[in-house]
Amino acid sequence: NEGALWGGRFESGPAAAMAALSKSTHFDWVLAPYDVRASQAHAKILHGAGLLTDADLATMLDGLERLAADVASGAFAPAESDEDVHGALERALIERVGPEVGGRLRAGRSRNDQVATLFRMWLRDAARRIADGVLDVADAIAGQAAAHPDAIMPGKTHLQAAQPVLLAHHLLAHAHPLLRDVDRLRDFDKRAAVSPYGSGALAGSSLGLDPDAIAADLGFDSAANNSIDATSSRDFAAEAAFVFAQIAVDLSRMAEEVILWSTPEFGYVTLADAWSTGSSIMPQKKNPDVSELTRGKAGRLIGNLTGLLATLKAQPLAYNRDLQEDKEPVFDSVAQLELLLPAIAGLIATLTFHTDRMAELAPAGFTLATDIAEWMVRQGVPFRVAHEAAGACVRVAEGRGVGLDELTDDELVAIDPALTSRVREVLTVQGSVASRNARGGTAGVRVVEQLDGVREVVQDL
Ligand code: ARG
Repeated sequence: NEGALWGGRFESGPAAAMAALSKSTHFDWVLAPYDVRASQAHAKILHGAGLLTDADLATMLDGLERLAADVASGAFAPAESDEDVHGALERALIERVGPEVGGRLRAGRSRNDQVATLFRMWLRDAARRIADGVLDVADAIAGQAAAHPDAIMPGKTHLQAAQPVLLAHHLLAHAHPLLRDVDRLRDFDKRAAVSPYGSGALAGSSLGLDPDAIAADLGFDSAANNSIDATSSRDFAAEAAFVFAQIAVDLSRMAEEVILWSTPEFGYVTLADAWSTGSSIMPQKKNPDVSELTRGKAGRLIGNLTGLLATLKAQPLAYNRDLQEDKEPVFDSVAQLELLLPAIAGLIATLTFHTDRMAELAPAGFTLATDIAEWMVRQGVPFRVAHEAAGACVRVAEGRGVGLDELTDDELVAIDPALTSRVREVLTVQGSVASRNARGGTAGVRVVEQLDGVREVVQDL
């Protein structure tokens, strides 16, 4: 077999089912541009170590450049007989420069250090693309927050009416986790920026090659300190898979709210036509499929993470072929996020909020009860007593079927002498929201501050 990277000690080739099981070109081909780039760097290292003549280096670099172009254009693609991306590319190089020169490239490297290096390179680029997509979502959220600076909505805990909050405050609560995810991706990159190249199969290289030089050439911060670890660890991949899953979970929580908000029972938002779908039987339907697919894909990304961890958990050192299973889940998580992020950004940016409806519902469920209690505390009443009194206000209002602001002065003082009619200053949702003006609170001044902060981060990153 032309493309095989091994065979000297074998009398027969692999059985068909063996070859089929072993094959990875259908997914590892995305590493091909990285493989060629690393080969260019490796060729220079071989030359530096005196293992390639000037003429051979020139021939090899020319062949690799032509190969890079053929890979990019699709003129070269792996054959049925190629086992993996590395074998296919060596075959292609030999086709271009002949076996005498092409056969020298593999000295001092193994597919084990190669694949660990290329996967890191691919993942570092992917993490940057994903971070950009996440920032676009945060930007869409910030845009909606900026467009609705005064809108008040029902704030909930346990999905039950809790306290009124600003819509912008609630929206920004979905932006902060996403900014932390971007921060996680940048932090991941620091650890991923270590090059396994030069580790060989596991024990390092005897050929006087320079791992630091190749690391620098390939954009890594440094070369690995332990060749066994470098070829067999995949915690960098698991870490990225975790951040991808966390991004999907964060998007899913927001998607879940959009689904609720778009029901007639909530009636908070209308989805744009471009970001919703219809039903094949029910003509009236406008479905929140972007959000539902987000929720669904979050499950899938969690599966990719747990599957990868399970693959890693019992492997002895050093490289085992189990590690070939590391790539598909991570590639898949990236592919799903690349579909999801622009759709969620579009969905959020084009939501129409029904702020009158939200404002009308904001006091429902006696959400100003806490304001009564805290107003009493400001008058010197112990909170225990104030909490009881505010609870009694709720009981009386509920009994009469009215809101807290509709209690009469007589009813109020009967509940507690401290409850003078001045309490009415906090019995509006505007008054309640404006009073929560400590850092991080829902008062307009604080939310504007927060929005500025989010926008600064989005623009900076
Ligand atoms: N395709 C393998 C992987 O993805 C790399 C090849 C290593 N094979 C080997 N027999 N050592 O991990």
